[in-house]
Amino acid sequence: MQKVKELYSGKAKSVFTTEDPDQMVLFFRNDTSAFDGKKIEQLDRKGAVNNQFNATIMQKLEEAGIPTHFEKLLSPQDSLVKKLDMIPLECVVRNISTGSLCRRLGVEEGLDLNPPTFELFLKNDELGDPMVNEYHAQSFGWATMDQIREMRDLTFRVNEVLKKLFADAGMLLVDYKLEFGLYKGKMVLGDEFTPDGCRLWDAETREKLDKDRFRQGLGNVVESYELVGHRLGMTFDYT
Ligand code: ATP
Ligand code: TYD
Repeated sequence: MQKVKELYSGKAKSVFTTEDPDQMVLFFRNDTSAFDGKKIEQLDRKGAVNNQFNATIMQKLEEAGIPTHFEKLLSPQDSLVKKLDMIPLECVVRNISTGSLCRRLGVEEGLDLNPPTFELFLKNDELGDPMVNEYHAQSFGWATMDQIREMRDLTFRVNEVLKKLFADAGMLLVDYKLEFGLYKGKMVLGDEFTPDGCRLWDAETREKLDKDRFRQGLGNVVESYELVGHRLGMTFDYT
């Protein structure tokens, strides 16, 4: 399947139409952004690593019965996906306290959250992706209550699958963000699951292995993403 026309260029990926109106191509670029696009850098190999990392995770989720948009890898940096009608909300689950949760609530970093929390954020860069609740989502027509329940249930099912996957490879899945969309009326996981949109810590040392390395200028960003992939048995093609 060939890319026909660029539909949209986001902060990290570009979206292309294909000859099939139900499918599109996601091109994972090397661009890396943080703080609502205020910090932007090009990191060698990141597009290829994230594209292939995402492909493996989406396949594992699909095997666990979670519907995803992923169809197949087309090249090191391109994936073919189902074209979704995206819900403009980000679903965040947290297993351990850190990041904006600690700033917002003044709670200590590194607490085990039992049960894990579930939060919704509005996808709106100009407003800095504000946190919203299910009533906002319904009142403003971003999602119905049934859709919110479905996204929440799927987001927690992803937690069960991925917490174990990472734990078995010596890592803690601290928190993550998912995006969903509708495909022929059905709720499907879209966008990506990569170290750009989650937090992963080494289980022994609690060393950060995710995008916090970029946010906090810790260095070895892509090397850490590769290390996570290698621990999960992935190999990467950079050709
Ligand atoms: P953010 O980083 O806040 O997600 P962005 O637009 O900068 O925003 P990118 O990842 O660069 O993010 O762009 C990819 C875009 O493609 C996002 O807007 C995402 O919601 C959208 N998208 C992802 N998967 C699909 C899909 N299967 N169908 C339609 N749109 C999709
Ligand atoms: P959060 O702690 O709210 O953000 P930060 O501390 O980076 O301001 O983020 C929780 C998790 O969800 C974290 O793994 C990053 C991810 N996330 C995104 O990737 N994009 C987003 O727009 C949001 C709100 C969260």
